[in-house]
Amino acid sequence: MSSTRHVLAAIATLLAASATIPSHAQSATGPIKIGLMLPYTGTYAGLGHAIENGFKLYVQEQGGKLGGREIQYFKVDDESDPSKATDNVNKLIKRDNVDVLVGTVHSGVALAMAKAAKDSNTLLIIPNAGADAITGPMCSANIVRSSFSNWQPGYAMGVVAGQKGVKRAMTITWAYAAGNESVKGFAEGLEKSGGKVVKELTLPFPNVEFQALLTEIAAQKPDAVYAFFAGGGAVKFVKDYAAAGLNKTIPLYGPGFLTDGTLEAQGASAQNMLTTLHYADNLDTPRNNNFRKAYAIAYKAQPDVYAVQGYDAAQILANGLKAVGGDLSKRDQLTAAMHKTVVDSPRGKFTISPAGNPVQDIYLRQVKGNNNEFRGVAVKALADPARGCKL
Ligand code: BEZ
Repeated sequence: MSSTRHVLAAIATLLAASATIPSHAQSATGPIKIGLMLPYTGTYAGLGHAIENGFKLYVQEQGGKLGGREIQYFKVDDESDPSKATDNVNKLIKRDNVDVLVGTVHSGVALAMAKAAKDSNTLLIIPNAGADAITGPMCSANIVRSSFSNWQPGYAMGVVAGQKGVKRAMTITWAYAAGNESVKGFAEGLEKSGGKVVKELTLPFPNVEFQALLTEIAAQKPDAVYAFFAGGGAVKFVKDYAAAGLNKTIPLYGPGFLTDGTLEAQGASAQNMLTTLHYADNLDTPRNNNFRKAYAIAYKAQPDVYAVQGYDAAQILANGLKAVGGDLSKRDQLTAAMHKTVVDSPRGKFTISPAGNPVQDIYLRQVKGNNNEFRGVAVKALADPARGCKL
């Protein structure tokens, strides 16, 4: 072989090898690069900020290190826009070479993140987005969720509505994965006691022109309405529902996102509402009380479920890193430890299913003042059915 051919062959071998190595350095020393992909603008901006605050609070409580290593943050505002999601996540994976992705809030954006994480074999921790498929057909050892599947709180609210004698319910939501799946879970829970969803109303995300749909609800007079909205959209919906006088005759139920992080803005319109979620503000445990105190001191604000999910995302990563002494190259041990961890959360202890989703109690809560107060356990240790997950 001539020397030129030797050089070309060597280059080809190097290129082939580099294609199989993740672009990010999976090292055992130096700072761990965390890519936060969250909404910092738009209707879900408040949720994104709370998740970041919660994540950073846990890291600070560990002296700024996880698994003995410093943490370095990279941030992208995903704007809750699925059409920009692949470009946005690639800024973190390819430009910033992050070791771990943390994100996001919106299910449509998270589906694109999950695909990119699988394709590049990057570790992904989801601190909110409930897209059922991510811990269903798309499940993967390198993806873990610290939050919920869209099915979980919806199903629990359906069970509760059935126990309250609801026979004919209407649903209203944004027409995208989170809303559609939440409504599906609710219908499944309600059907267990013979109730039925008689009409599903939708509008595009993040539209808040609710008037025509509220008129339809008034005309149909169902026993109850189940609504999935969150952030700024939830504030507007709950206020519009009350302003139309519907809350006096038709109970409004929802997953807890309808009243979480929103109560100051919703004021009187949300009082006494019942919702289901894996967190309640007044859980009187040392773990929750200490968390709430530390969060209030750090951020001069009250935490909500999103802050809890961010905090627990950091805990899950910390527990995995502890098992491998901070060595990211021990990927299989790391992800196994993340799946096996018992998370000591402000919401109460929970485990992670093989598909990567929390197995957790779903609480019934009632709005009193600016708090979502605990009223009981709606469904104990609820696991997502993980339909279609093959590991
Ligand atoms: C979602 O898109 O999955 C979602 C957004 C806000 C609250 C809950 C779920």
